[in-house]
This record gives sequence, structure tokens and C-alpha cells, in this order.
Amino acid sequence: MSISTVLVTGGAGFIGSNYVRSIAQDHPKCTIRVLDLLTYSGNMANLADLEGRIEFTQGDIADPAVLDAVVPDCDTIINFAAESHVDRSLVDSRPFVHSNVLGVQVLLDACRRHDVRRFLQISTDEVYGDLGSTSRCSLESDPLRPRNPYAASKAAAEHLVQAAHASFGLNTVITRGSNTYGPWQYPEKIIPLFTTQAMEGLSLPVYGDGTAVRDYLHVDDHCAGIECVLHNGVSGGIYNLGARLQISGLDVADAILKHIGLSNDHLTFTDDRIGHDYRYEVDPSKAESLGWIRSRSWQEGLLSTIDWYQRHHDWWQAIRSKSRFGDFKAR
Ligand SMILES: NC(=O)c1ccc[n+]([C@@H]2O[C@H](COP(=O)([O-])OP(=O)(O)OC[C@H]3O[C@@H](n4cnc5c(N)ncnc54)[C@H](O)[C@@H]3O)[C@@H](O)[C@H]2O)c1
Repeated sequence: MSISTVLVTGGAGFIGSNYVRSIAQDHPKCTIRVLDLLTYSGNMANLADLEGRIEFTQGDIADPAVLDAVVPDCDTIINFAAESHVDRSLVDSRPFVHSNVLGVQVLLDACRRHDVRRFLQISTDEVYGDLGSTSRCSLESDPLRPRNPYAASKAAAEHLVQAAHASFGLNTVITRGSNTYGPWQYPEKIIPLFTTQAMEGLSLPVYGDGTAVRDYLHVDDHCAGIECVLHNGVSGGIYNLGARLQISGLDVADAILKHIGLSNDHLTFTDDRIGHDYRYEVDPSKAESLGWIRSRSWQEGLLSTIDWYQRHHDWWQAIRSKSRFGDFKAR
């Protein structure tokens, strides 16, 4: 599928800005529009090196008038825009319903109004709910059993996307990515939180006994998966994107402390997250069969990410100086 004009919503956030950078490089002739509300996690500094290459609009995906200004002539929309932090959703889920559910419904209506050729919704492995102590991996055909307000809002969005495909024939695809890490990630999420805490000589807050496991996907591989599904996925299709890894919170903390040269005295065990899902793991075979190849190992991906935070001290210091990170715990 060739693309001449793409709208990337949520493109000033973590994964969105990495994606915009990758397509700017890979598709030099493509017009790239970015729409982002610039909430607490949206940051123009994430796109500073792309000034002049992208068309940026600050606005809300849940506002039809904003969409009527930016969607015409776009052949493709990729929706990263969302409230993305589980812990915040446990404190106040209203912004999650606004951006993650209402926002998607308004976007889908705009796709119909303006004849958008393909809509890709970025979703998450959290929609499957907890795999507990089983050894199975979630398949795209599994039922959705979200167990926190963030995951529930993302599952609701998926249902709206599937309904728009079935009812109106909209050309849609959905990706369900696992826990993603890499450059430009807002330092409330586990890897940048632990890394920046360690760099400041502070303690790393591990949930419960630290045994809950996640599948960690480097953002470059996540973006490559999105690109592969965008071009090769079938209309109405859903594709898991995971790295086939099972890493505990304690493993993450240990690896970061070791790399930065600190002892385990810097670990603090906090009360567990309420309703904390013990394990997520997706089977990514379906996306792999489209030709998606991952290039980052966990060891190399984590070390290069820590190095990036060491080299971009000013970027994360500017964020940490504005926000109190004690308010929200690590993912
Ligand atoms: N980070 C992960 O581990 C992960 C894993 C799987 C899927 N996802 C999904 O990927 C997407 C991006 O996640 P992220 O980690 O980059 O999040 P992020 O919080 O870094 O970025 C979200 C961006 O969306 C923007 N935004 C929020 N509400 C908006 C609205 N109403 N209108 C326009 N812009 C709005 C924010 O300003 C921000 O720039 C989300 O949909 C998330 O659910 C994230």
C-alpha cells in the first residue's frame, strides 16, 4: 500500500514520535501530519529534530472540528493518541474514557466523512487481562478480559474499530503491542523511571515482591511491526506484537542497577498495584507471518536505552523538575 499523506495522532508521545521519525526517514516523499493534544506526556522536544519535515497541529482527537481541519487528503491515519498510564487510570479514569474511547469514535467518524483509505489503531496486550501462572500466550482470537480502567478503555476502542469495519466497511487494522521501552519514553513508566531514579542515586520502587512479568518490546521493533501490519495486514485484522520475552519487575531493576553500577540496596518494595495483573504474554506468530522481524535483543535494547537516558539528561531532567513522580507508581 503506497501512502502519500499520513496523519499520526499522538505523534508527540513516546511511541508516536519514534514512529514519525522512522517513517520520515523511510518515506522521504510522504507528507506527515501530526495531531497531538500535548497532554502531560506529549512533548514537542520529542519531535524537535523533525521541524520542517512534519506538519504539526495541537488539538484533541475527540473534537470533530479539529479533525475536519487535518483529516482531508489523508489516505492513512495511525492512532497512537491515548492516556497511557495504568496507575493514573486507577486514580481518575475519566480522561481515559475521553481520549481512548470517545476520541476513537470521533476519529472513526472522521475516517468515514473524509474517505480515509486505512485506519490503524494502536492497542495493547493489556486488553487480554491476566494470564496468571499459566504458561500460555494470548492469541488474537482470545476473549478480551481487561482488568484495569486503562485496559478497559483500550478494549472499548477496539470494539468500536471492529464495529466500524463490520458496519461501514471501514478499512481498519489493530495492533496489540506488549510493554514498550526505548528513547523518549516519559519517565513514569518502569524502565525510564528506574533508570532516571538510579542516575540520581535514588531508590527504585518495585511493586509487591517484583515477580509480575511482562514481555518487553523495543520501540524500534514495535514501530517496525506497526509498519508491517499497516502495509500487509488484512482489513479488519488484529495483530499481536510481542518479543517472546518474560521479564519480571525485579529483573528490570537488577539489570538497570548493575549497568549503572549500584547495589541492590537501591531497591524499595512498595505495596502492590491494586488489581495488578501477574503476567501478559502474546503470541506474535500472526504478525511474523506477514514478514515482521525484530532486531533488538533484550540485553542490547535495554543497555542502549539506558545509554540514551545518560546522553539525554536535559530532556528527562526538564520533565522530572516539573512532575512529582511519587504520585504515580511504576507500570
Ligand atoms: N508504552 C507502552 O508500553 C505501550 C504498549 C502497547 C500499546 N501502547 C499504546 O501505544 C500508544 C502510545 O503510547 P505511548 O506509550 O507512546 O504513550 P504516551 O503517553 O507517551 O503518548 C500519548 C500521546 O497521546 C497524546 N494524546 C493524549 N490524548 C490525546 C487526545 N485526546 N488528542 C490528541 N492527542 C492526545 C499525548 O499528548 C501524547 O503525546 C497508546 O495508544 C498506548 O495505549 C503503549
